[in-house]
Amino acid sequence: MREKILDFLKRKEGYTSGDQLASRLGITRQALWKHIQELKNIGYDIVAVPHLGYRLISTPDRIFDFEVTCGLLTQFIGKKIYYFESLASTMNLAMQLGLQGAPCGTVVLAEHQARGRGRLGRHWLSPKYKGIYLSLILRPKMLPQGASILTLLTAVSVCEAIKESVGLETRIKWPNDILVGNKKLGGILTELNAEMDKINFVIIGIGLNVNNDKKTLTGSATSLKEQKKEHINRITLVQEILRRVESNYSLFENKGTAPIIEKWRQDNITLGKRVKVYCQKEHIEGEAQDIDKDGGLLIRNDSGLTQKVMAGDVVHCR
Ligand code: BTN
Repeated sequence: MREKILDFLKRKEGYTSGDQLASRLGITRQALWKHIQELKNIGYDIVAVPHLGYRLISTPDRIFDFEVTCGLLTQFIGKKIYYFESLASTMNLAMQLGLQGAPCGTVVLAEHQARGRGRLGRHWLSPKYKGIYLSLILRPKMLPQGASILTLLTAVSVCEAIKESVGLETRIKWPNDILVGNKKLGGILTELNAEMDKINFVIIGIGLNVNNDKKTLTGSATSLKEQKKEHINRITLVQEILRRVESNYSLFENKGTAPIIEKWRQDNITLGKRVKVYCQKEHIEGEAQDIDKDGGLLIRNDSGLTQKVMAGDVVHCR
């Protein structure tokens, strides 16, 4: 009902009569009043004027599930969204939901994470109401060894969504850091629940610095607000990310990895560079030549030998 009321109020420039609104929604005026109070309690500024009705003045800067769902128009991604003010990590909750059988496309969103995590066991800073902290459950029919393609697919989707919704060009550092220049804007974390020969489900975690102010960012990080010098609408950005992930996921299901790898090649800044890749105990240095069909990075060292790495931390040397 909240969605319907907001939809009406957002469409109307002036006041909407309470009688008209209640009868359109098939509820009593009293029930409508109760819903309006609930909306006001969560931050919607709605004025009520006798004989004129209700008018929406402003909406809160929150990524409420019902706001994201409204007008999303996807087939399966984001059909069910779980929204929280605060969580330890959206990854943990998505993992629990996955184990309970949540369908492919289920999304977990939080306004804040107390223990947000990044790749290689790092902490992911998740200040309240500033970023996008999202985990998505996918159930692909594929071998666990092939799952890296989903990380690349998500990185491409996030770049496309930022371009479309914010008008900013971003680049991908292998495998999945989203950069502007050489500063990090966001990252993707993929976790699997799998057997040797079958993925049960995958959790894709997306973390993006959106409205973080410069003073709250470390030197090597940036935010969309810092880049665009304006406040960014997180709802439209989340919606666009979900749409892009869905269309690229369908592309992958229908045409395989090749078109995704091609898109990733277009968006990346790692290929052609001299890199150092830190993997567990060693590091590999050389020229990043290409990625293979599984998303592994091919590095040619100074002796001319090409090695493939599937995970690690890349430093661009020049
Ligand atoms: C990286 O190291 O670059 C990946 C960062 C991924 C952060 C996101 S925020 C939403 C989800 N929940 C987490 O705890 N981590 C991921």
